[in-house]
Amino acid sequence: MSTTSTAMSIDQLQQAARDHLWLHFTRMGGHEPPIIVRGEGCYLEDSNGKRYLDALAGLFAVQVGYSYGEEMGQAALEQMRELPFYTNWSYAHPRAIELAHEIAQLTPGDLNRVFFVSGGSEAVESAWKLARQYHQARGERRWKAVGRRVAYHGTTMGALSINGIAALRAPFEPLVPDTLHVRNTNRYHRPPDETEEDFTAFLLEDLDSAIEQAGPETVAMVLMEPVQNAGGAFTPPAGYWKGVREICDRYGVLLCADEVITGFGRLGSWFGSEHYDIKPDMITCAKGLSSAYASIGAVVASDRVVEPFLNDTSMYTHGITFGGHPVQCAIALKNLEIMKRERIVENVHDNADAFRATLAQLLDLPIVGDLRGTGYFYALELVKNKETRETFNDAECETLLRGFLSPQLFEKGLICRADDRGDPVIQISPPLIATQKEFDIIAGTIGEVLDEAWSRIA
Ligand SMILES: Cc1ncc(COP(=O)(O)O)c(C=O)c1O
Repeated sequence: MSTTSTAMSIDQLQQAARDHLWLHFTRMGGHEPPIIVRGEGCYLEDSNGKRYLDALAGLFAVQVGYSYGEEMGQAALEQMRELPFYTNWSYAHPRAIELAHEIAQLTPGDLNRVFFVSGGSEAVESAWKLARQYHQARGERRWKAVGRRVAYHGTTMGALSINGIAALRAPFEPLVPDTLHVRNTNRYHRPPDETEEDFTAFLLEDLDSAIEQAGPETVAMVLMEPVQNAGGAFTPPAGYWKGVREICDRYGVLLCADEVITGFGRLGSWFGSEHYDIKPDMITCAKGLSSAYASIGAVVASDRVVEPFLNDTSMYTHGITFGGHPVQCAIALKNLEIMKRERIVENVHDNADAFRATLAQLLDLPIVGDLRGTGYFYALELVKNKETRETFNDAECETLLRGFLSPQLFEKGLICRADDRGDPVIQISPPLIATQKEFDIIAGTIGEVLDEAWSRIA
């Protein structure tokens, strides 16, 4: 039996969870939440002593895996002794300065100015506000944000408004005005004879005309992930980012790369913006910045974006108490030190082909229509009919994904996500320390479960 550092017995924990803990994005009825008590490397253990391979890295976040608690904890302890807290409102402190310096070294181009927040939603929220105030400081009133269909950018009202997932938005409408949603880079359901070049042109035309129709002089920001997670790891077609950058330049719109998932190594480069040569005006990041050992995120702005805020009386009229918290910064700094020392990003770069090749074996299964993604960031799209690419309807998704796949994968000791915010996919995004051993377990377990799912359908 596993031990955990709590005064409660496992039964008491389960009862208290049922009575008091409100889980995020979780159906509560009859749900007995697994209680995860410890982690090591790519693996987690629950309160019954059962081990799981975490093929989702927390939530696309635990880059270095779960074994660096001692080292990160020591960095946190030392910071607690020296200065447990001070704010970034008007004051600086060494760890926030050092971390901002470090991030500015790692981000591409002239993304040199770092504004700290507590997580991804706050980063997106702050980027939109920054874009609005940037234009205002230059004598323009622009407020609209452009996102992509089915994209997820967080849950605070501003970030939620940019989300392209109708089901997440609907309960909270009316949302923050105004947002536009353009096509994402899902190529799987496009006409099979469409060339990559035609696809790129089609997407850029859609973006261009959306901005034209909205009135370019009202549009503040385009926010897109280098590889879109929701819908299943949509990678950009050739020429896409160059075209998006050109459209933003033509209309004077700021381009923000939402790197909450792709930042800090997931694609095999420090940032997706570097990987695809995006040249954004801003980057939003969180999760991997601290490998999720701390709740810290950031907006990183280019020299051009910070310029109107640099004169004597200007300021960005925005802040949060915990932005740049010294203990969170100390942990993030330690994480980046570990990532460099252990060559974590190089590990992704070196193993990405082998990972893809291992997952590609699953394409032989009749239910697997597509494998998408890059680096350590993949999705398998599930289909009813491979020839026609026909997808599952809502009721089938309910029985297949929620009723069978998710619980079966978990039962077999694999944590990954069966997701139907777009067409049904299995998302695979392990810690960046994963090696062939983990790739084999992931592909083996998913293969077994999908085989069984198909025989049930058949
Ligand atoms: C691309 C992207 N942006 C923003 C967010 C929101 O981040 P958080 O959950 O830390 O608020 C997420 C979360 O998954 C994300 O994937």
